[in-house]
Formats: sequence, C-alpha cells, structure tokens
Amino acid sequence: MLPTIEWKDDAVVMIDQRKLPASEVYVTCKTAKEVAKAIKTMVIRGAPAIGVAAAMGLALGMKRSSASGTKQFATEFQRVCDEMAATRPTAVNLFWAIERMKRVFARHVQAGASVDELKRLLEEESRHIHDEDVASCRAMGAHGATLVPADARILTHCNAGALATAGYGTALGVIRAAAEGGKKVAVFADETRPFLQGARLTAWELVKDGIDTTVITDNMTASMMRLAGIDLVVVGADRIAANGDVANKIGTYGVAVLAKEHGIPFYVAAPLSTIDVNTPDGDAIPIEQRSATEVTHSNGKQMTPNGASIQNPAFDATPAKYITAIITEHGVLRAPYDKSIREMFETAKQELTTA
Ligand code: MRU
Repeated sequence: MLPTIEWKDDAVVMIDQRKLPASEVYVTCKTAKEVAKAIKTMVIRGAPAIGVAAAMGLALGMKRSSASGTKQFATEFQRVCDEMAATRPTAVNLFWAIERMKRVFARHVQAGASVDELKRLLEEESRHIHDEDVASCRAMGAHGATLVPADARILTHCNAGALATAGYGTALGVIRAAAEGGKKVAVFADETRPFLQGARLTAWELVKDGIDTTVITDNMTASMMRLAGIDLVVVGADRIAANGDVANKIGTYGVAVLAKEHGIPFYVAAPLSTIDVNTPDGDAIPIEQRSATEVTHSNGKQMTPNGASIQNPAFDATPAKYITAIITEHGVLRAPYDKSIREMFETAKQELTTA
C-alpha cells in the first residue's frame, strides 16, 4: 500500500486523491499554507488523515519559521493553527489534532524550551499522531473482524480506508483484518456521489489488496440489500456526537435506514479522536457545504441546466438508533451510546495514564 502522507526531506508529501485511480501522483507541500490548501481542496481527505495532515502542516509551518524568540514563535504558531482550523469544518479529528499540538506546545514553552527545541518537539508529535493512527486502525480492525461472519458480503459507503487515515483504514481496516484472518469477504462499494470516493478510492484500495470488490451506484443500495444478501454494513465517521449520532459522508443516513429496514447490522468504525463529547447530538454537528460545481459537473462536463438550484452538503448525521455498534481501537461500543462512550473514555484515560 502506498503511503497516504509522510515526511520527506523537510516537506510533507501526500498522494493526490483527486487524481486516483487514473494516476498515482504525489503532492509535495513545503509550507503550512500548502498543507492547508491540500486539505481544503481534497488532495487529502478522510477524517483521521485530515487530522494527521493538520498536525504535520503545523509542524512544517513552524519548522520554517524564522522567529528569534518564543514570543514571536507562539504568535506564528497560533496563526498557523487558525489557518489549519479554517480548512474543513465537520471532521473533528482536525480540531483534535490541532488541540493536541497546542497542548504539546504550551507544555514545553512553560518548561522553558527554546525555539529550536519546540520545532523538533512539534515534528516529533506529528510523527506520533501519524503512527498512533495506523496502530489504532489495526486495533479497530482486530475488534471489528470479530463481528464479520466467515463468508461475508459487506457494503460500505465513501472511503474509510488507508487513504482516509495514516494507513490501513477504519471501515476498510475491519474488512482487511477479516480477510487477513482467513474470512471470505466480498465488498459492495457505493460509488458515493458527487466526489466518488467509493468508486475511485475504496475500489482502488480493495482491488490492489485482491479483495473481491463490486462498485454500485448509490441508488442501487436498497436493491442490493434485498437481492444480493448483504450481511453487514461498515462505514467510517467524521464526527460522533456524545449521544452516538454519527456524521459521515452524505448518503450514510439513507444507507443506515435501509439497513435497519432489511435487518442488516450497521457498524461504524472510528477512533476515539473522532468522538466529540462536547457535541451533544447530530444536529449540533457542523455540516460542510461544498461547491455546487461538484454536483453540476462531471469530468469537466456540465450535467445540469443553468438555473437549477444546487445543494451539496458533504455529510449527513445518522441518528444513533440506526447504529448496531461503534468499533473503536479500544473495543466495541453498544447502545446506550451516551453511557458506553463516557465509560470508554474513562477506560481509555486509565489505559493512557498507566501505560
Ligand atoms: O469528504 P471526505 O472525503 O473527507 O469524507 C470522508 C468520509 O466521510 C469518511 O467516511 C470519513 O472521514 C471516515 S474516514 C476513516
């Protein structure tokens, strides 16, 4: 699997996800501004990957700073944090990563670190965030694989794979772990209009891994559930509210309602960094509105008449009642989610402090 994002010679390099699957080209970011632009324009996308990119972008921006004292360095750091935070509003991993970098910064400034030390510590933290993300995907995979039958037909929406994380994937991590564990898996990937993350990215990743993959258009999902014997649905998440409501790619809500109607388990795989206990429910999650041209145009060709109004919300919120379980790196959460989420954070905190 090609790396999604990595440090290379004092630059941050990422595969250009807008160009896949036609071409595998890399974008080299030499400034924080370039990383912010890459997040905004979807060179890199997917909640955990956005968080990792923001952390690397912050470290990169500060590495290039010519500030002579910590006071000026701190002012620049705040400006770069604000720039990263303004890229995309829904995936909470972005804000989680920025807060984590801010905490490291504040702790070491307080301890009297020099500008050079702060530069090194920020880069080091961004590398930790990257590596921890891969490890948490692997852990999610192991927990999630126990929910997959020996011979499973699995439906997924959008791309929650290696490309959407630092590697391995959340929902696709579960599928990968099941396949690696010897289970027979066949995946149905919703194409995911308008950006086609399912058709372009999920199918690209799974085919590369030799996993049986069928791409379906979004409007085939109901029929496939009724006729193709789908055993389970697994998707990723961009933000999970304190009550278990899940914001994920637009269309996820419909898939969840259909799954319930057909008696199919609907699983969400996401790390704890995607759970936002400060957001009470799905209605409070900010939903990104993207450019109308993503809907009006396909491959540069206009598909809709001039004069038609266009809606392009990038995400929707699925109420917790449709979610069979949430798979995290620390284990599987079940309803009532307000309680299981709270308990999971308590346990995770204990694990972190005793580690
Ligand atoms: O707009 P995108 O491509 O960033 O949206 C991505 C998704 O909705 C993913 O399903 C989600 O981030 C989970 S990725 C592990």
